[in-house]
This record gives sequence, C-alpha cells and structure tokens, in this order.
Amino acid sequence: MLAAPINPSDLNRIEGVYPVRPPLPGAVAGYEGLGQVHALGPAVDSLSVGDWVIPSPPSFGTWQTYIVKPATAWHRVRADVPPYYPATITINPLTALRMLRDFVNLTPGDSLVQNGATSIVGQCVIQLAKLHGLHTINIIRDRPGSEEAKDKLKQLGADQVFTESQIDIKNIKTLLGALPEPTLGLNCVGGNVASVILKILRQGGTMVTYGGMSKKPVTVSTSSFIFKDLSLKGFWLQKWMSSDKAEESRKMIDYLLDLVRKGELKYEMELTPFSDFRLALDKALGKHGSQPKQVLMF
Ligand SMILES: NC(=O)c1ccc[n+]([C@@H]2O[C@H](COP(=O)([O-])OP(=O)(O)OC[C@H]3O[C@@H](n4cnc5c(N)ncnc54)[C@H](OP(=O)(O)O)[C@@H]3O)[C@@H](O)[C@H]2O)c1
Repeated sequence: MLAAPINPSDLNRIEGVYPVRPPLPGAVAGYEGLGQVHALGPAVDSLSVGDWVIPSPPSFGTWQTYIVKPATAWHRVRADVPPYYPATITINPLTALRMLRDFVNLTPGDSLVQNGATSIVGQCVIQLAKLHGLHTINIIRDRPGSEEAKDKLKQLGADQVFTESQIDIKNIKTLLGALPEPTLGLNCVGGNVASVILKILRQGGTMVTYGGMSKKPVTVSTSSFIFKDLSLKGFWLQKWMSSDKAEESRKMIDYLLDLVRKGELKYEMELTPFSDFRLALDKALGKHGSQPKQVLMF
C-alpha cells in the first residue's frame, strides 16, 4: 500500500459501533487506499507489476503494507495524480456525487443546503455542484479557525457559508439573498443543525442524512411534515455499492480522478508517515482540535 486515509467510518468500525464489523481475530482496519502491484499470480494478465490500484469496491485492511487479493478486487488507476487522491477518491467524493444525482432532479440554477461543509464530502459537494451550475448554501460549526474555513470553502466555489451561530432561522429569506430556496439538503451532522436544514429547505424538499458527526439524533418538527411536506431519506455508500454497482462505481471513480487531473476537484488533506499513525489517529479523533483529513503514507 502507498497511502490510506483515516475516515470517520474507520474509527466507528474500530469502536464497534458500525453496522458492519470486520471478522475477528486478525482484522486490519482501513477501508480505502492506494496500492502498487508488487507481485502477480501466474494466471493474472489484467494487471502489471508497478500498476497503481485501489480496492474497488472498497474493503477492509488497507492500513497495512502488503495485501493479497484476487486481481478482480482491484481497479487500476493512472499514476499521474498525487497518490493521496486515488487513496481517498472512493468513499467521500463518490458519496458526494451519488447524493447529488440520486435523490432530487436538480437543474442548473437550483440550490442545495448542507451542514458539515468542511468535511471531504462537503468540499466535494461544493465543487461538483458548481460544475453542474448548482448553488450551495453551506453551514459549518463554530470553532477556532471557522472564518478561515469559510474563506477556503468560498474559494472552492461555495455561494454562501455560515457558521451555525450566524443562521437566523426567522430570517431565512434574507439569509438566502438572491438564491432560490433549496430543494435538497445534505445532513452530515445531525442534532440542531439538521433541524436548521429542514427550516431552510423549500416546500416539498428532501433532506438526505449520510453522517452523524455530532452523535445527536435528527429531530423533526411535526410542521415539517404537515405544512412543508418534506421528505427525509438516508444514503449509505456501502449499500449502494453492494447492489451490483461495481462497474458503474469504477467509471465514476475514473470521472472523479479526471476532475482531479483537470484541477476541478481538490480537497484538504494532511499526510502523515505510517510510523506516526498514533498522532494521525489522535488528530482524526479530534484530540488536536479541528484538523484536515489524515492520510497515512506507507
Ligand atoms: N453514508 C455514507 O455512505 C457515507 C460515506 C462517506 C462519508 N460518510 C460520513 O460523512 C461524514 C463526513 O465524512 P468525511 O470523511 O468527509 O469527514 P472529514 O473530512 O473527516 O471531516 C469531518 C467533519 O465532521 C465535522 N465534525 C467533526 N466533529 C464534529 C462534531 N462533534 N460536531 C459537528 N461536526 C463535527 C468536521 O468539522 P470541522 O471542520 O469543524 O472540524 C468536519 O466537517 C462522516 O460522518 C462519515 O461517516 C458517510
């Protein structure tokens, strides 16, 4: 392996709170990453030694130096982007892409609202939305460095970015300015800021929950259903992939890597040598305050 990120779901799996648990004993953590072919079995003609490959669909055990798997478990990618992009392209960017396509029929000029906008998913949503002529209203949490984080998201193409405390729920129209009321809401966080999304959504809009970073439940007012007729849905990439989408997901990964190559998709990461994995884990757990995505380099 060359590189593998620490994603929130990796931590949840280790904590034993994720619905899918790797078989014990001998489980190795890590669910996506980039490898380089080191050796081939005699019957393999689809790959060559030296190729860059990613496990596709993603699978357990990327936080290790050597992995042995059938050739069909690997998707070859071009070695012309920084290695940390193919290492991280599957779980978060693909989730962003699917959520923009699968729930609401969005057309250029429409807008969407999301919380957790500083996450990799959130950063990808902003850029993919912009590429399709969609506007984004973004909510981030109040924390040291939030003004700088707002600027970074605007540079990625965010139309509006607010911290949670800047949202005046009674004045949504002023908040939106010239933007149309959003039809799609993406909920990464849960708790109060999920309710904020419900307030900002237009009549008949849809909120898709894909993360629960606050570890707080989603609370929905009765009026959200009766008077606004909102729909609440969930997205789970692992389920989407298990429904016979292997080929389609590889095409989308190639599409996303093409955007990286063209400079149209980027996101913030911090690279850490595997020898410092304890520090990277602490950072991913939030013990050093807010930190960029940690990527282990082997
Ligand atoms: N359902 C699926 O299929 C699927 C697929 C991919 C990802 N996900 C989920 O999507 C979420 C984002 O993943 P990611 O890898 O893109 O995230 P990430 O890049 O690791 O970033 C973590 C995000 O969570 C925020 N955060 C951390 N602790 C928080 C707290 N206590 N309250 C509120 N916000 C908090 C961070 O905000 P700051 O910038 O302020 O620190 C940041 O925006 C995770 O919940 C992940 O499990 C789900």
